Amino acid sequence: MKEYSVCIVGGGSTFTPGFLKSFVRLREKFPIKKLVLFDIDKERQELVGKFGEILYKEHFPELDFSYTTDIKEAYSGMDFIFMQMRSGGLPMRQVDEHIPFAHGKIGQETCGAGGLSYGLRSVVDMIKAIYDIRTYAKDAWILNYSNPAAIVAEALRREFPDDKKILNICDQPENVIRSVSRLLNVDWEDLDPIYFGLNHFGWFKHIYDVNTGEDLLPKVKQIVKEKGFLPQDAEQRDASWLDTYGFVEKMLEDFPDYLPNTYNQYYLYPEYKFSKLDPNYTRADEVMASREKRVFSECEEVIKAGTLGDKFETISDAHAEMMIEVAISIAYNKNNRYILIVENNGAINNLQDDAMVEVVCELGINGPRPMRVGNIPQLYYGLLANQVSSEKLLVDAYYENSYTKALHAFTINRLVNDVTVARELLDALIEANKGYWPELK
Ligand code: G6P
Ligand code: MN
Repeated sequence: MKEYSVCIVGGGSTFTPGFLKSFVRLREKFPIKKLVLFDIDKERQELVGKFGEILYKEHFPELDFSYTTDIKEAYSGMDFIFMQMRSGGLPMRQVDEHIPFAHGKIGQETCGAGGLSYGLRSVVDMIKAIYDIRTYAKDAWILNYSNPAAIVAEALRREFPDDKKILNICDQPENVIRSVSRLLNVDWEDLDPIYFGLNHFGWFKHIYDVNTGEDLLPKVKQIVKEKGFLPQDAEQRDASWLDTYGFVEKMLEDFPDYLPNTYNQYYLYPEYKFSKLDPNYTRADEVMASREKRVFSECEEVIKAGTLGDKFETISDAHAEMMIEVAISIAYNKNNRYILIVENNGAINNLQDDAMVEVVCELGINGPRPMRVGNIPQLYYGLLANQVSSEKLLVDAYYENSYTKALHAFTINRLVNDVTVARELLDALIEANKGYWPELK
């Protein structure tokens, strides 16, 4: 069995310790010989890096593990590069979420004005990072789940049209499927979904039982109506995530056709969500007060003790496991099914070919093979055509340094929807993103 070299970009992320543990758990299925963590933030990288050294000394001593802030060391000789970059870090996520609130709109890291703000930062940093990667690892698979994934995917499609080894992916559809499996009390791997949409704006059209072929969606709707909806890992989630999953029940009342991605709440209920969110304590604040503290204090404790002790099991990580399974499907040409972000080209028949859509794909050594969902009904077509236009206009703004295109992207976004507010927001975000955004003229 070939052994692989792997790099994680964003090695100082709160998600990295869970990832590191998952490489131990999955080592039989995905044997790696070398793992390098890379981050531009030296301090965070060192903390997670030192934690990793102790973890692997105890649980995977033959692994060649290191961490660095140097791109050449990070990328040279890599087979797989997991990208979880957060451009501007959590402090800029806070900005993306707070500024829109001050203008009466929802700030969210991937939806609405917050997502557009983060989008322009990520496009700049991701394009640069991929050129760097290709300088040192021209054949590496790049598994990208940096947000906002829809906008990043659109920019990478344009910048690297011939690069067939960039894969854009999000874990939320699979999180929903795992949550459905909890609801039905079945193994999530026995669920075979049909899904369509854009990243963070999609729907499950069917959820088949792989063994019987039965479409379980009607049953799922019924149980959600009776019992509500919880994330699979509800016990480890912050309150805001429990609200988010719980809101699926309301979305199914108003839009009974399909099971929605949880993120649809922002696009379909912006005023309600706005009224419920605390402008001074958004998700960024919650993450810094909870996950960041929890994960980093675990790293500190392990470093202080010099041993993992009983902390191997404390972080379970569906997200990391999914990303590693994705790499396995490519590495061993398994053609397993994943919900991935790919160029449409007819997968959603009545949506433009060059939209980056999220659909079920078979995934093997030559990349994703999307499955077609046919024509989607008018309602969904209308929502998606609008959102894809907003995302494309933002990427146009990046390429053309165009203030007007950015203004139009904000204006037609469902979470802004007014040119006067869009202009105020854009001006405030230009100011806040100095040094991150390209100049818009
Ligand atoms: C889900 C989404 C990711 C997003 C994450 C945010 O997993 O698919 O795109 O980054 O949630 O989670 P957080 O806990 O940081 O709000
Ligand atoms: Mn996502």
